Amino acid sequence: MTEMITILTGAGISAESGLGTFRDEGGLWAQHRIEDVATPEGFARDPELVHSFYNARRAQAREATPNAAHEALAKLEARYNGEVLIVTQNVDGLHEAAGAQNVLHMHGQLEGALCGACEKRWAAPLVMHPSDTCPHCNAAATRPDIVWFGEMPYGMDTIEDALARSTLFASIGTSGNVYPAAGFVAQARQNRIPTIELNLEASQGGTLFDERRLGPASKVVPAWIDELLSA
Ligand code: OAD
Repeated sequence: MTEMITILTGAGISAESGLGTFRDEGGLWAQHRIEDVATPEGFARDPELVHSFYNARRAQAREATPNAAHEALAKLEARYNGEVLIVTQNVDGLHEAAGAQNVLHMHGQLEGALCGACEKRWAAPLVMHPSDTCPHCNAAATRPDIVWFGEMPYGMDTIEDALARSTLFASIGTSGNVYPAAGFVAQARQNRIPTIELNLEASQGGTLFDERRLGPASKVVPAWIDELLSA
């Protein structure tokens, strides 16, 4: 059986590309209320506000470029003698921009538009409006293809299967506050595979990892990947 590595990434991996994290000082959740911009109820109350929040993030993400950590993960995927799955909580496209192909966006993507009526998807324009209509069913129920609080993240079956087949689980740049992603380390431990955390500081569930490397992703991730590839 081919060996497999599952890698969970969070906002910390994109921080050095200039994209703000959520819970660090001055982060997105210090500036906006989660219930206003990241819940279905918030969208129903004020779709203009929610679209403008994601329009701004989309504009910022399009200007951003991958950093050494994204590049190292793409290198791992290309050179590792086995399978690598990147499960990202990030809605930016920086893993793909660095060349990674096996990327699962469990919280959706800024570059996606989703029809709240017929559930079809298409490429998001730079600026979305509540009056935009679905190219498939014509309903004016267009929303960003983002998984909000209270909604089911994408690809859970694939992720569970990957964690069952993997021989290593790594978590990079995530605070471990949001489930189900925060629970992957416990699942990996239950499956008796080694776990490693790479983060600026210890995360919520930091003690659950077998190994921890603290520092900026652009430094600790390439060093770890060079070790993996030369082992
Ligand atoms: P957070 O903002 O909660 O956590 C970011 C983590 O990255 C923190 O632990 C930081 O210490 C770390 N960090 C910051 N800069 C770093 C750097 N240069 N190198 C390495 N680590 C660094 O972001 P997430 O854990 O990704 O969901 O948040 C998870 C989910 O919560 C998001 O996907 C989003 C949010 O609410 C939804 O919107 C549904």
